Amino acid sequence: MIKVNNRVISTVVVSTILGHYGRGMFPYDIISSSYRKAKSVIKETKTTVFTKSSTLWARQGNYNQWKPWTWGCVRDLPNMGMLNAYGLTNPGVEICAKQINKSVRRGFNVIPNFFPEFGNDDELTFRQGREAILTFVGKLEGNFWAIELNLSCPNDKVAIEKNIAKAANLVKCLKIMFPWLTIIAKTSIVHPYEFLQELEFAGVDVFHLINSIPYGMLFEGRSPLSHLGGGAVSGGPAFADALKYVRGARKAIKKDIIAGCGATTMIHFRRYCEIGANSVSVCTGIVKNTRQMTDLIRIHNSKI
Ligand SMILES: Cc1cc2nc3c(=O)[nH]c(=O)nc-3n(C[C@H](O)[C@H](O)[C@H](O)COP(=O)(O)O)c2cc1C
Repeated sequence: MIKVNNRVISTVVVSTILGHYGRGMFPYDIISSSYRKAKSVIKETKTTVFTKSSTLWARQGNYNQWKPWTWGCVRDLPNMGMLNAYGLTNPGVEICAKQINKSVRRGFNVIPNFFPEFGNDDELTFRQGREAILTFVGKLEGNFWAIELNLSCPNDKVAIEKNIAKAANLVKCLKIMFPWLTIIAKTSIVHPYEFLQELEFAGVDVFHLINSIPYGMLFEGRSPLSHLGGGAVSGGPAFADALKYVRGARKAIKKDIIAGCGATTMIHFRRYCEIGANSVSVCTGIVKNTRQMTDLIRIHNSKI
């Protein structure tokens, strides 16, 4: 569990698999009764839910729930894994904020995830971040206290590396303008530890390490989603590399860490705790090992 700015982030957090609004996602809501059961446990235990990323304006991305021919950009992998090139499809911050407010009123404990678009102009990036935050402030009333910044678009390694300085600058500016806001930085395995240290210095309160891993870093040969940039791997096949990375990160930074990527069993949860994680996040595990992950949440989050 993480205590930050008089608030709590649960011991097990659920990341993005409850969709953009934090209360469930297609197709799992329709096809899986155990997913629906997991949601009610998540709600009852006040488990922290991070939403899927929104951007300031709506984005088309690669996936569209109404266009079945786009569903192939999310694939199953062996060992409770997934490969996705979802591509940040979302309806924009305004709609997400309104809907997240509904989820909160229905009892979900939701923290929005925002993807800042880094252009050539730092001022523009900051203005986007500021506008998104003001939208959440307006729509979420008193329930907005933290934001997760998705600083990794794991499908684009070059872009991530270019954006390092811009991200630290953005955090610094947002901290000056919104000193009351808890900033959670979600980063990628391609980020060097020095970047995490820069973010810590800039004012990040909590780290969420790490996002799904680019296919080419785990597997040789062509990705089944090479036509969409290769995609990123989550769940079981990503665990060993993610654990190794987070172990190193624990030594490099002092702030609390939500560790994740690959946690699909209770043993994975324990391994992350052993290397110093303060909370553990699950995404793919919620749909690949639903019953065990529901038990995990019930066991560790009931005491909040
Ligand atoms: C289909 C799918 C969509 C995802 N969408 C987002 C997203 O919009 N924003 C984000 O920050 N992470 C996103 N993620 C990454 C997850 O939140 C998580 O960090 C990653 O999958 C690693 O954890 P896991 O192995 O427990 O799944 C997505 C993952 C999957 C499988």
